[in-house]
Amino acid sequence: MGGERQIYVAIDLGTTNTVLTLGKRNIDNTFGTEVIEIPQFDATKNLIQSKLLPSVLYIDNDERKYVGKIGKWMRENSSNRVVYNSKRFIGTDSRWKIGETVIGPVDVATEILKVCSNTIKRYTMGREIKGVTITVPASFNTDQINDTVEAAIRAGFKRKSITTISEPTAALIDYINIQSKRIQEDRDVDFSELKRILVFDIGGGTCDIAIIDVVQDENNLSFKEIAVGRYDDLGGVDFDTWAANYLLNKFAQERKLNINEISEVQKNHMINQLIIFAEQAKERISSEVENMEFMGIEKNNDEISFTKSIPDFYNDEICEFSLTKREFDLSTKPLYYKPTKVIKDQRELPKYKNIEEPILNTLTNYNIPIASIDYVFLTGGMSKYIGVKERVKEILRKDIILSPHPMEAVSRGAAIYNYYSIEETKNDSDVNPKEILKDGGDSAVLDITKVLAEAIMIDVDEGLPEVILKANQRIPYTGQLKGKLKTSSPSGLKINLYAGKDKYDSAMRIQRSYTGSYTFPVKTGTPITIEYSIDENKHLSMEVVVEDSLNERIKIGVESDVNVYEGR
Ligand SMILES: Nc1ncnc2c1ncn2[C@@H]1O[C@H](COP(=O)(O)OP(=O)(O)OP(=O)(O)O)[C@@H](O)[C@H]1O
Ligand SMILES: [Mg+2]
Repeated sequence: MGGERQIYVAIDLGTTNTVLTLGKRNIDNTFGTEVIEIPQFDATKNLIQSKLLPSVLYIDNDERKYVGKIGKWMRENSSNRVVYNSKRFIGTDSRWKIGETVIGPVDVATEILKVCSNTIKRYTMGREIKGVTITVPASFNTDQINDTVEAAIRAGFKRKSITTISEPTAALIDYINIQSKRIQEDRDVDFSELKRILVFDIGGGTCDIAIIDVVQDENNLSFKEIAVGRYDDLGGVDFDTWAANYLLNKFAQERKLNINEISEVQKNHMINQLIIFAEQAKERISSEVENMEFMGIEKNNDEISFTKSIPDFYNDEICEFSLTKREFDLSTKPLYYKPTKVIKDQRELPKYKNIEEPILNTLTNYNIPIASIDYVFLTGGMSKYIGVKERVKEILRKDIILSPHPMEAVSRGAAIYNYYSIEETKNDSDVNPKEILKDGGDSAVLDITKVLAEAIMIDVDEGLPEVILKANQRIPYTGQLKGKLKTSSPSGLKINLYAGKDKYDSAMRIQRSYTGSYTFPVKTGTPITIEYSIDENKHLSMEVVVEDSLNERIKIGVESDVNVYEGR
């Protein structure tokens, strides 16, 4: 390698905000990360720079696409030409229609990643980057990850150069990196003895949990994901929505309006405005509480409030709204507690989302006693809210570690991982991955063991599903399913892929379907063998071997349509 220094790239493609970090080896050979300012348009189409790129897409009347602050502003001004929170729909076939354009979650992610890619090009002045790490919730299944990777490819990154890492693990890497820079005595946590950390990452749209065993000795920093939570679309926006509904009811009561008599269009407009208001109020209240804590001011903070006028709120009228901390906490209370009754109807579940259940479920699903947890590590924008911090502490009764920068930690940690994933696989490297965290502190090899959040099941021609990968399976993994499935048609087969707890899970979700044709007629009832493997990036590939005399093979790549091998 010449004098040119390699740049390591990581992108936290968040539900609310996207963050881009570049890692570099400094002249003195230490490794540093820098969160990069991303150019984007503001409300008045001025080009500005910000470390947070709101994950909002705005398409103007000429079908031009914009990502970032302008999208956020358009949303506030009730434009119907914006798509936000689209990460919640990745891995599904959801579509939005904006003017003449029909787009899905992969398209939105592509536009966001294109902005990141262009920013990287400006920064590296066209020099090729070796790879990019994109973070995904620990709970993302293979389909959600594949769609994220697909978006990165469409945005111009090369497939082979893309790695993924789970968000909680990345955030914890960032924390340990910061700790490593301190001398031993000044570190908050001593990782020289194994520590079991429950990472609770609550951002705008996802509540992501991972339990990670960490140990750091002189030469080795080892992360073992020993449990990851199920996908839970609970985040800041749910708090904002509960508070907004409260405000709408209060408004109706004060005006003696019957909410049911307000048109759906008008009501949607009002709720949307109130969700935005509630988000601003929550962040303001939260900052004020933080300031008071910082200054050591001990007083009742329930009456801290935020007030704002909303133009054209109801019947073109300007209305003033105010929200106190007490009101915010009361109206969002259900989000903190698991429901006291059993919810039988799956469709009812979204109404009962809460932060307690995913934590407890992760522990019970993996048989991990609370007593074995050493610390809880909190990260993600919504973890800044005092109510969330207090409730998590109450649920687990453990010492809480706060990420020093909860909205950037994921992206920063992922840049360190990107360095590791590139250098580790390189033979001609003149840098040593052992030095990864050598910033005046210890050096270490980064060693990450990953697990699957959910089991993956398949069925053939709508038969009974069989598990090919168990929940909590360590990956990468290669396996074979033999003698359990049989053909039911002479011409071809249809395979459905499912994710869920196990094959008896009534809430099991179909992920995707694949069909393949045989090149020769195959006798019904012929045994099928499925050979499959899943890599570190949770990328699954399968081959179906139909074991008749011709031993026909059908290759199914989960990322693509079915490829049928020529018959032999
Ligand atoms: N000071 C604050 N207090 C409370 N909430 C805050 C504060 N600052 C930001 N938030 C909330 O944090 C959320 C965004 O957090 P973050 O940027 O970590 O999410 P994300 O990474 O985009 O989403 P996800 O991780 O769910 O995909 C928003 O709901 C925002 O309102
Ligand atoms: Mg996040």
